[in-house]
Amino acid sequence: MFGKIPSILTMLMTTWLFSTLTYAAEQAADAFAPESSTGITDQKLVIAKHWMVTAANPIAAKTGADVLARGGNAIDAMVAVQLMLGLVEPQSSGIGGGSFLVYWDEKSQRLTTFDGRETAPLQAHGNLFLNEQGKPMEFYDAVVGGRSVATPGTVALLWHTHQKYGKLDWSSLIEPVITTAQNGFPISARLATLIEKDKAFLSRYPDTRQYFFHSDGQPKSQGIVLKNSAYANTLALLSKNGISGFYRGEVAQSIVNAVTHAQDNPGLLNKQDLMQYQVIEREPVCAPYKQYQVCGMGPPSSGAIAIGQIMMTIAPFELDKSNADNLTSWQILAEASRLAFADRGLHAADSDFYPVPVTGLLDQNYVRSRSELIKPNKALKKVSPGTPPDTLVNQASVGSTLELPSTSHFNIVDANGNVVSMTSSIENVFGSRLMASGFLLNNELTDFSFVATKNGLPVANRIEAGKRPRSSMSPTIVMKNDNPYLAIGSPGGSRIIGYVAQSLVAHLDWNLDIQKAINQPKMINRFGEMDIEINTPLANYATQFESMGYRVKIRDLNSGLHAIRITDEGLEGAADPRREGVAIGR
Ligand code: DON
Repeated sequence: MFGKIPSILTMLMTTWLFSTLTYAAEQAADAFAPESSTGITDQKLVIAKHWMVTAANPIAAKTGADVLARGGNAIDAMVAVQLMLGLVEPQSSGIGGGSFLVYWDEKSQRLTTFDGRETAPLQAHGNLFLNEQGKPMEFYDAVVGGRSVATPGTVALLWHTHQKYGKLDWSSLIEPVITTAQNGFPISARLATLIEKDKAFLSRYPDTRQYFFHSDGQPKSQGIVLKNSAYANTLALLSKNGISGFYRGEVAQSIVNAVTHAQDNPGLLNKQDLMQYQVIEREPVCAPYKQYQVCGMGPPSSGAIAIGQIMMTIAPFELDKSNADNLTSWQILAEASRLAFADRGLHAADSDFYPVPVTGLLDQNYVRSRSELIKPNKALKKVSPGTPPDTLVNQASVGSTLELPSTSHFNIVDANGNVVSMTSSIENVFGSRLMASGFLLNNELTDFSFVATKNGLPVANRIEAGKRPRSSMSPTIVMKNDNPYLAIGSPGGSRIIGYVAQSLVAHLDWNLDIQKAINQPKMINRFGEMDIEINTPLANYATQFESMGYRVKIRDLNSGLHAIRITDEGLEGAADPRREGVAIGR
């Protein structure tokens, strides 16, 4: 009913339509575990003078560092890191997926964001994930196969931003990745574990099976050298033909074939979807916190709004006067997060299709009214979405989506002070499990609500042709005195929001260095239940949280936070001990 909004006239009409409508809230069920944990490593704060990369895989981080060492800028290094991540960390991100970039451009002294989120195919419709009985499909029935594949956006983001800001030659950034794809790379411990764990889905389609398994069906294990000539070939086309090497010609055709011919679960993506894909530059969404501005990705991500709301909601409680081991501080943070998630469930979606009240959700008076709902040491019985000042629609009820894991966050600061904070995803671990031309295709369409209406009301994050699914990805740059101070982000589905907000509190309020802030035990509250990281001192609070009225779940919390802090002396980098990333600097 409401397609992409192209003109002022349509905007006015749409505003009128929206103002006469009610919308259903939509809440992620998030019932599935994130990408599995694969052990804890020892990480130390890395210090550098000139430049730094932090990324989820050492080979990819090194590729970025090589670019910076030979004089490339942050955007050049971003291209190299992302293309290498797609090879060596294929379970998490790649050119078959989408991404968001928050970028500080030193020359223009400007913070901006680029939206390379996947789009729903033009043939997509609200019933895509309903079964024959008209009920939402089982989550993995929807994920695995062609049905969930959205138009990839990452290549367009790399190309567009490199055209605008890049310094080194495009081909020279791709060349080392081609060489690694041809010569092979050793399968990392984490990749090996995830191949083994995902055996049933990952061996369903022939190209994927062949790549990740031996001919006798055994999963390829840690240390085996994996070569990917198909990916090398794709990168060669990308190198030679630029963006068209991906969105047109043989690579585009192979994507369409993989999606439409997935024997048991075909999808809707066609060549026109690929040809029409557009990366969108958008204003960052910023929220004040103490002397900082916490800035990040606005719609279609819910990340910056939710993190901003959490920070503004906790501000009156002055958590800086407490310490990390204060039970009440954790509880206040949890309640602030619940309140933000209630708003997110109702209001967050692609703002080109639905009038997300961004300014209202971050309005000082509105957030203060939310803050006043919090009772220290007592769980709110019920948390509902509010009505921020610029809401154009009436609210109603609750729908459902599931958001699942895989995803990668990296940061780069170059010698000139340009800053990249980028989160990139193929959604679930190994995405749709379909491969085309040497890379995995995303399942990002399952980030939409599976139901288009609830109690007779349309859901904001329902599937519509060309629309971008709501995300939680939160590439963040914290500003201080109008300059970048901290770049941070994480994978983790909708838990990303809590991982980032909690790390900000640990650093900005509790004065932990960024490594310690990232290491800190994690506690997440999205919809009321208190998730506490297993085998950590925080888990000792379980009984006390229960007596405050929370349901507590002790579990793995597999964040993958990476951060770079910009200091007067230089740079500090940190990588999450829960994954296998590193910080490299000089
Ligand atoms: O866009 C989103 O919010 C999700 N598709 C991200 C998935 C994710 O972070 C999984 N992480 N482990």
